[in-house]
Amino acid sequence: MRLPHPLAGRVALVTGASSGIGAAIARCLCEDGLRVVLAARRLDRLLALAEELGPDAHAMQVDLRDEASILTLFEQTRARLGGVDVLINNAGLGRRTTLSDGSTEAWREMLEVNVLALTICTREAIRDIRDMRARGVDGHVLHISSMSAHRVPHASGMYSATKYAVRSLTEGLRQELYEQGSGIRVSSVSPGFVETEFAAVYHGDPSAAERTYGQYKVLEPQDISEAASWVLAQPAHCQVHDVLIRPTRQER
Ligand SMILES: NC(=O)c1ccc[n+]([C@@H]2O[C@H](COP(=O)([O-])OP(=O)(O)OC[C@H]3O[C@@H](n4cnc5c(N)ncnc54)[C@H](OP(=O)(O)O)[C@@H]3O)[C@@H](O)[C@H]2O)c1
Repeated sequence: MRLPHPLAGRVALVTGASSGIGAAIARCLCEDGLRVVLAARRLDRLLALAEELGPDAHAMQVDLRDEASILTLFEQTRARLGGVDVLINNAGLGRRTTLSDGSTEAWREMLEVNVLALTICTREAIRDIRDMRARGVDGHVLHISSMSAHRVPHASGMYSATKYAVRSLTEGLRQELYEQGSGIRVSSVSPGFVETEFAAVYHGDPSAAERTYGQYKVLEPQDISEAASWVLAQPAHCQVHDVLIRPTRQER
């Protein structure tokens, strides 16, 4: 039995809800009593999860590399649910590529999804939250960042660069909101290794999961979703900036 969540009844939009950490966060926030928009490209997965979670879960397809698709996602959320109170910028990916002779397309995809889409979604959510002040909630933007925002893992220069950018975007937004006297809060959660589809996407090889996650007990998506739920549950005067979570056996 979960304790009542202070944001129960509010609307949370979770990007990357078709898999891994995003699906776990969507599940957790539904259990917390929030109304949740599940957003990603794979609509079949979103519809299956929405059916499992019940009437407070709403599947909406988006391609975060396409700004028009992002704007449509927010318009549909306004039309169906009255707008966003909480944004979980979770969608993201790494591609195994070098900086000295890597693929421009791999760099572009990481930058577009991990940095640019996160920034566009944040702007749209803040617009919603401001428009709906009357609802009495100041709102929250939570970025799923990475331990790669805090040190550069071997051969992951561009992925790490995108997560260092997320760290800067967290603090930059905090400063802007502070200067504006806003009550909107911004936070990050920075995981180490979590068993998801991330490794298969990173290596372009579904069998990479065993190599990446099989050497010791890594984090489960639920470890991150519980942290996200806790960050959002803090009282209005308490702004969590970053939560760093590693598997106990992860060296760096
Ligand atoms: N797993 C780890 O070890 C780890 C560690 C630190 C940080 N993280 C971060 O955690 C977040 C979630 O990753 P995960 O581990 O859960 O990986 P995952 O299982 O591969 O999930 C990634 C999610 O991002 C979505 N996505 C990717 N490109 C998209 C696009 N163009 N448009 C819309 N959605 C897109 C995917 O949905 P569709 O493919 O259906 O569009 C999927 O739902 C990422 O930001 C990642 O950087 C992961």
